[in-house]
Amino acid sequence: MKILVVFHSMTGNVLQLARAVVDGAETSGAEVRLRKVAELVPPEVIAAKATLQAGQEKMKDIPLASLDDLRWADGVCFGSPTRYGNMSAQLKNFIDQTGELWMKGELVGKVAACFTSTSTQHGGQESTLLSMMVPLFHLGFVIQGLPYAEAGQMGMEQIHGGSPYGVSSVSGPRGDRAPTEVDLELARALGRRVAWNAGKLAVAGTEPKPAAKRKAG
Ligand SMILES: Cc1cc2nc3c(=O)[nH]c(=O)nc-3n(C[C@H](O)[C@H](O)[C@H](O)COP(=O)(O)O)c2cc1C
Repeated sequence: MKILVVFHSMTGNVLQLARAVVDGAETSGAEVRLRKVAELVPPEVIAAKATLQAGQEKMKDIPLASLDDLRWADGVCFGSPTRYGNMSAQLKNFIDQTGELWMKGELVGKVAACFTSTSTQHGGQESTLLSMMVPLFHLGFVIQGLPYAEAGQMGMEQIHGGSPYGVSSVSGPRGDRAPTEVDLELARALGRRVAWNAGKLAVAGTEPKPAAKRKAG
């Protein structure tokens, strides 16, 4: 299986989740590419804030995602910080460049899953994950959620992310609360599941042709 993990992150929380998704996919035997999307915030804004500079530094060696990465992959995990309950413009900007893939149906039948991070517990993880899926349906992806079989999401002992819609973490008001071990284990589980299911679909082969129309009468 070939798995692409493509993400946007500014202060490193989504990056940490992305690395755990990579680990999970790799333990399933997948070949994995980790890719970031282009930053749209002006360099002078980033230069003026130490936390943003530190975030860029953590990601400087990660290549930018391309359309060929999407073509190459059997499964794709998309990660974005929450922006007012939605994915970031940076990740959406990447998805909005997939018109030629959509035209040719090149992503149809591939597996996709989503992950996010918010600063607050009820700051829109689920709305972000669900709205991230909308363009993925248009592109023809088969969406992988995070079933309750991944029992870590059921715990009540500590604040953590994770829901049937995907992986998440809560980074706190200053964005410096790292994903917990529960979040990271759920991220690894998502990577494993996307790799397994991409593998199963690859074995199942190409899609059946639409059934021939029945004759009237
Ligand atoms: C413009 C903007 C909008 C945000 N909107 C939300 C939000 O709706 N809910 C929330 O809890 N956090 C929100 N955040 C906080 C980030 O989603 C949060 O800090 C996240 O953990 C950052 O991920 P990163 O470290 O990968 O960049 C917002 C941050 C910014 C800059």
